[in-house]
Amino acid sequence: MFSEIQKVTDKAMVFLQKKALSALYIPKQKLHMAMNNTTAPKVQLLYDLCKTTFTPSGLSSSPSPQPIHKLCSLLDTFGPADVGLKEESPDDDRGHGFFGLNRVTRWAQPITYLDIHECDNFTMCIFCFPTSSVIPLHDHPGMTVFSKVLYGSMHVKAYDWVEPSCIKESQEPGCPQVRLARLAADKVLTAPCGTSILYPKTGGNLHCFTAVTPCAVLDVLAPPYREDLGRKCTYYVDYPYSAFGNDFPQGNGAQISNGKEEEYAWLAEIETPDDLYMRSGVYVGPSIRV
Ligand SMILES: [Fe+2]
Repeated sequence: MFSEIQKVTDKAMVFLQKKALSALYIPKQKLHMAMNNTTAPKVQLLYDLCKTTFTPSGLSSSPSPQPIHKLCSLLDTFGPADVGLKEESPDDDRGHGFFGLNRVTRWAQPITYLDIHECDNFTMCIFCFPTSSVIPLHDHPGMTVFSKVLYGSMHVKAYDWVEPSCIKESQEPGCPQVRLARLAADKVLTAPCGTSILYPKTGGNLHCFTAVTPCAVLDVLAPPYREDLGRKCTYYVDYPYSAFGNDFPQGNGAQISNGKEEEYAWLAEIETPDDLYMRSGVYVGPSIRV
């Protein structure tokens, strides 16, 4: 009896050992891919992850938190060297050699846009800001944007539209039509810091960047701006809530309780600001295999 039990037990042990070994077995091809990935530049890993995460309409209609978490975790590890940049110190854009540049010339330094990759589903790009430069308040219609500050400090002010939309038409000529928005962020991001995400309707879809020091931001936009598909970048100016009064009929979302006015602002659409000085530069980081 005992030997029968022993036989069964031995068989079970062999079966379990085989099972355990097969679980550990990694096919050669997969092992090769995994080894390749460990040596692939981070920017390649980011591209690969974006490619599997995004569809032509950005994230799927009901995105699970997992791909977003993966993207953030990877972006969190990025520093300037991963995309071929050198960190600029706050002094780098002040002194310009022995002769220097005067204040106005220095402030007129452009923001540099570096395109890493663009396809129908997403854009990977970098913005390099000299101190005090500003990307004015603008929107990302229907888009999700991941932003990682690579070096330096940047002030971010961000809003989301109040829904249902609350629009005030002015009776006076020359006064703009304004729409109510709620403040989502008003803070300084200093590297190293985590990745920020904005979504089509939350997280601060409309934002304004001001460089506190020289800084650079790695952005992933999904889907990309495409004017022909209704994804046009529109610029805005913000007015305090009190600037347009509180004379709204009940029930349209504009009744703000006392003490909360500072969390709201009226936004008016404007033309692309003349003083937005941006030029495109050449991305010199690791190339991507597409
Ligand atoms: Fe933006």
